[in-house]
Amino acid sequence: MAYISDKNTVKKVTPELIKAMKGNNEKVACLTSYSYLTAKILDSSGIDLILIGDSAGNVFAGYETTLPVSVDEMLYHTRAVSNGAERALVILDMPFLSYQCGVNDAVRNAGLFLKAGAEGVKLEGGRQIADVIEKLVGFGIPVMGHLGLTPQSIRKFGNYALRGKKKNERKLILEDAKILEEAGVFSMVLEKIPEELAQEVSESISVPTIGIGAGRFCDGQILVSEDMLGMNEEFKPKFLREYACLATDMRNAFNGYINDVKNNDFPNQNEVYHNPKE
Ligand code: KIV
Repeated sequence: MAYISDKNTVKKVTPELIKAMKGNNEKVACLTSYSYLTAKILDSSGIDLILIGDSAGNVFAGYETTLPVSVDEMLYHTRAVSNGAERALVILDMPFLSYQCGVNDAVRNAGLFLKAGAEGVKLEGGRQIADVIEKLVGFGIPVMGHLGLTPQSIRKFGNYALRGKKKNERKLILEDAKILEEAGVFSMVLEKIPEELAQEVSESISVPTIGIGAGRFCDGQILVSEDMLGMNEEFKPKFLREYACLATDMRNAFNGYINDVKNNDFPNQNEVYHNPKE
């Protein structure tokens, strides 16, 4: 099968390409990044989309929730990631309170993120932000939706449990997906919902669904890079597959360094500078 997103032929991933991948039955591979070096490695690996997630609040800054994350913090991550990514589509997760206070505020903040290097924005929520999404799209700002578990609503739900379990919840998610599609999103994240519901959503809309804990039938998948690299020893949800054990590798490396310093083994004679010969 010929991939329309083949990294050898596609020099730049765009929202249009992401949309077209669904029509070509091609899964969209997405991961998060908050930093220049990670973005650079992700980009050269051929990832389709890099999300600068507001999970930076938890994973990068150690906040308990994503609520404290500010526009300024996300601007910093945006500049770092966009410096490292050339080919991948770079999407910025708009932080809490940067798009809920009205359309003007949302357009201004999204504009600041685009000026800092993002190529589109992601917003959490359904019908309640449809007008904001429509306006952003109208101004030429690509928008990704986010339904199901929306971490910015943690104070409403009080937990990060599976969403869309009840009939009325399922109905709302299905309706919201249609509303987001009509508002003009180029794709949407479905987080932590039953795979049957994610399949129904995916089959009912034309734009790609990107799942995290939403099963096998989404049009693409996303994980937090630090989680799939095995750096987060306290977060092991069922949906997560770890592709490396970086926490162990890092600890071994740090221990090796500490031992070498304490045993006068680092630096050795090849790792020092000398006075230049006169
Ligand atoms: O903030 C984030 O990293 C996200 C992904 C988990 C989808 O929203």
